[in-house]
Amino acid sequence: MRIGILTAGGDAPGLNAAVRAIGRSALSDGHEVVGIEDGWAGLLGDLRVRTLDRPALAGILQEGGTLLGSVRRDLDHPAGGREQVLASINKEFDAVVAIGGDGTLSVAEWLAQRGAPIVGVPKTLDNDLAETEYCIGFDTAVSIVAEALDRLHTTAASHHRVLVLETMGRSTGWVAALGGLAGGADYIVIPEFPVTMDDVVEHITRRHASGSSFSIVVVAEGVSLTSLGGVEPLDLPTDAVGRVQWASRSVGHFLADQLQQRTGYETRSTVLGYLQRGGSPSAHDRIYATRLGVAAYEAVCAGAFGSVPIVRNGDVVRASLADVTASVRAVPRDLYELCARFF
Ligand code: F6P
Repeated sequence: MRIGILTAGGDAPGLNAAVRAIGRSALSDGHEVVGIEDGWAGLLGDLRVRTLDRPALAGILQEGGTLLGSVRRDLDHPAGGREQVLASINKEFDAVVAIGGDGTLSVAEWLAQRGAPIVGVPKTLDNDLAETEYCIGFDTAVSIVAEALDRLHTTAASHHRVLVLETMGRSTGWVAALGGLAGGADYIVIPEFPVTMDDVVEHITRRHASGSSFSIVVVAEGVSLTSLGGVEPLDLPTDAVGRVQWASRSVGHFLADQLQQRTGYETRSTVLGYLQRGGSPSAHDRIYATRLGVAAYEAVCAGAFGSVPIVRNGDVVRASLADVTASVRAVPRDLYELCARFF
């Protein structure tokens, strides 16, 4: 078989580990492996591909990012992009493995419904694809947040300040919640469980009244300004596929300004931004990217197109692209309550 692999959407540490797992598995069975460059864009117009042989797959397990490149491309503007991709896949490949988040896997589902031989692999540091307990990139992002909080603790303590850290997460709070838990945050604000500015002010004030000389607050980028007493800007910038770029609202800066005004405590803010998506993947991400990549190859061999390997109860099992993209997986209440025990 001639098997194509593409990475699309936001990059994440672990992508190369997944590409390596799929590629090495297929090569060992004598198949041809082709890397499709820059996500779906590599299938539009002139095919942009590269041979993935053993030398090309050597030394990439520990490399962050994606050797294939990733470009967010709106296949519906101009119209006809999806159909072009479908035609390219059917013409050029016996199977394609698409590694991506909700946007990528939704396109893969559309293609599978029309007979494309395609399998997905779940990747997003947001960790909020449905059905799966885990998405490639999440563990590394959590480790980066925890390490950042360790660093913020020393400077907050030295200056007796309140420090606010804004994390990624688009519309959910997985990175903020688990990164905050791992880093010992004193308060965590996520979209799933809205709090008011009064709630935050009261908590921080109570902490300081009981002797704390500094506090660390973590807030996810997708938290609504309205819930914190602010006003949502009307004309927010969007990415190439039309999705709101929540970071442009600077909710972390807003929260820090409000806290300083309302408590009188010196307050500063830090936005972790793309540091959460950069650098070498953690061992956990390498292991799960490898497990999910091998499972995706096995799905190709079984002709299980339209499926995507997921993690359930620690095992890797097969789900449908339709189910995985049907909804966003929110942080459950019991997990947020676990975090809140340590506020
Ligand atoms: O979906 C992953 C993610 O990193 C989100 O957490 C973030 O809001 C978004 O991608 C940023 O997208 P872009 O890389 O297009 O700026």
